[in-house]
Amino acid sequence: MNVTAALKPQDALAAHLEADMEAVNILIRARMASKHAPRIPEVTAHLVEAGGKRLRPMLTLAAARLCGYQGADHVKLAATVEFIHTATLLHDDVVDESTQRRGRPTANLLWDNKSSVLVGDYLFARSFQLMVETGSLRVLDILANASATIAEGEVLQLTAAQDLKTDEGIYLQVVRGKTAALFSAATEAGGVIAGASEDQVKALFDYGDALGIAFQIADDLLDYSGTAAAIGKNVGDDFRERKVTLPVIKAVAAASEAERAFWVRVIEKGEQHDGDLEQALRLLTTSGALEAARQDAFGWAAKARASLGALPDHPLRGILSDLADYVVSRLN
Ligand code: IPE
Ligand code: IPE
Ligand code: MG
Ligand code: MG
Repeated sequence: MNVTAALKPQDALAAHLEADMEAVNILIRARMASKHAPRIPEVTAHLVEAGGKRLRPMLTLAAARLCGYQGADHVKLAATVEFIHTATLLHDDVVDESTQRRGRPTANLLWDNKSSVLVGDYLFARSFQLMVETGSLRVLDILANASATIAEGEVLQLTAAQDLKTDEGIYLQVVRGKTAALFSAATEAGGVIAGASEDQVKALFDYGDALGIAFQIADDLLDYSGTAAAIGKNVGDDFRERKVTLPVIKAVAAASEAERAFWVRVIEKGEQHDGDLEQALRLLTTSGALEAARQDAFGWAAKARASLGALPDHPLRGILSDLADYVVSRLN
């Protein structure tokens, strides 16, 4: 019997890539050290030891292995990708004023914003040192572009928040930037380091892009309909931050005059009272916005799966296909 058959796809990936992931975790621990500033490993360890799914580094490893890679540089790239992710989480929790991450208090709450921003900067710099070690200019290009695109997505979101004119096109640009860019860079870089054909590299990019979008739409839905215990973060953060996420865009498009006045008050004017989050959730449900966004997430997951067709027949391909279903199965 296939021992990974009964596992959740992310656990099946972890089982399949166990030795590689062990090397990635060792490298992450070694490179988060700092000789001179103990605050750096303190803050980083708080986040890194809290776990996290390690989805992005596993995507890099899987992409490389799937394309037949036999070298060791994929481990460096996977650690690079997780460092970039960790840096963006530190910065994101400052920007979003979040208090919970991975089921723990955020670093900005336990230490302060200054520590989170500066340690995030340090981790970004460390990620660049790591990827330089691979000596591949093309991989550097992919990951440097992704880093710029993530920051761009976060800034675009900043200016789109609190603005009910934000439409689905802008939303897609935001999530492609802040989330999908790292997923697609993770898979693309894995293919490139393995010397995969251009068709395969393109397929890997498309898979990561669609998976990342599905993942972020699911995350945005769970910010309203999930539980803190299940997501390891507070529910309602997006509402409090007055973010115009996909469910809200769809609800506003279908709103009556009175409902629109509600959205203008809570999102544009920021006048939020007890019971407003519950009222928002009611409107998102009755308008069909939650269900429509859920269908969009399933559509992106299907697109991710379809991209895998161009890749070699390999057990990892099946696991990646299941993973696409899994990231949206949190919505069932
Ligand atoms: C969190 O990503 C940031 C988003 C893009 C929503 P993950 O949910 O992959 O975070 P960890 O690493 O598993 O905590
Ligand atoms: C996640 O953005 C994307 C990045 C960390 C760049 P969110 O703000 O939507 O994610 P969570 O909910 O804090 O994980
Ligand atoms: Mg956030
Ligand atoms: Mg954010």
